[in-house]
Amino acid sequence: MAGQSAQPFSLLLMRKLLPVILLVFLFVSCHSEKELKIGVAVYDFQDSFITEVREAIMECSENDIPVTIVDAAGKQQTQNEQIERFINNGYSAIIVNSVDRTASGVIIEKCRQSNVPLVFFNREPVRDDMAKWDKVYYVGARAEDSGRMAGELMAEYWELYPHADRNGDGAMQFVVIKGETGHQDTELRTEYFIDTLLEKGLRLEKVHEDTGDWTRSGGYSVMTSMLLRSGDRIEAVFANNDDMALGALEALQEYGYFSTKGFMPVIGIDGTPVGQAALDNGMLLATVFNDAGNQAKAAYRIAAALAEGREPVSEAIGYDIVDGRYVWIPYRPMPGRLLQDR
Ligand code: BGC
Ligand code: CA
Repeated sequence: MAGQSAQPFSLLLMRKLLPVILLVFLFVSCHSEKELKIGVAVYDFQDSFITEVREAIMECSENDIPVTIVDAAGKQQTQNEQIERFINNGYSAIIVNSVDRTASGVIIEKCRQSNVPLVFFNREPVRDDMAKWDKVYYVGARAEDSGRMAGELMAEYWELYPHADRNGDGAMQFVVIKGETGHQDTELRTEYFIDTLLEKGLRLEKVHEDTGDWTRSGGYSVMTSMLLRSGDRIEAVFANNDDMALGALEALQEYGYFSTKGFMPVIGIDGTPVGQAALDNGMLLATVFNDAGNQAKAAYRIAAALAEGREPVSEAIGYDIVDGRYVWIPYRPMPGRLLQDR
């Protein structure tokens, strides 16, 4: 006691304060030097459209906050573990393309507990889940618009080419090759495609509807079995994406379409490079452009802002943020040769 009180006051203060000052210094320097990184969890690396988005995300990250992209290979359980690993490894923000969009609630809850902001894309969480936390955003495209545009393109073809009514009964016998069951794009694209044709006054007869699970092989096998069942009755095909449309085109060719049986109108959605090639060579009647590049950019910019602790406002992100946490990237109709060269 006596020794201590003999020390000059300033020395005493220093001895007591030094550890505190050091701690604060350490904290501040660690904090400011903390390496920012963004985790990206994707539902399936095999998906063509999602592959475009993830490649565009990689491009955005060049010379910016780095990303680690992981593949859930279609398993929600795998994705949950990947997200947990991102959280435990100190990732600053996470971009998620969920396997099962109804699982988003669990993911949001996990991230909320660790305060790691989230940006979903392409597979839209339900509104109730989005409402669970304010550091959750969604980037996507309005599925109903793509369905409507596909319907308008098909109606235009029907009007321009009277021979499209192969059996001459005044109605369009059509089939739908749907995407994955439960995906918002599957349900809404199909619904709005049909509604648009009806609004335009077409008489419709749906011959078949089946799911091709977004894949080319799925589109091929569904189209093959539809042809086996209904052969020459089919007059038009709407596939919920380009990959399935391309699979359908293969099956139709094997059945004699595009040669002895003539043209069959097939419409897809996405405008992927392979889809656009099929437009250019005149096989695909039309598609609807689903803008992978801008969806990637918007998702990345929001995640980067959140990672840096900034609020992702429209002006800074370069995209309109609506309802506080949604960015909608517009679709665009892409008519093929028959609808252009008129
Ligand atoms: C795309 C599909 C893709 C799916 C994956 C859709 O928006 O059009 O091609 O397979 O998203 O979730
Ligand atoms: Ca007919």
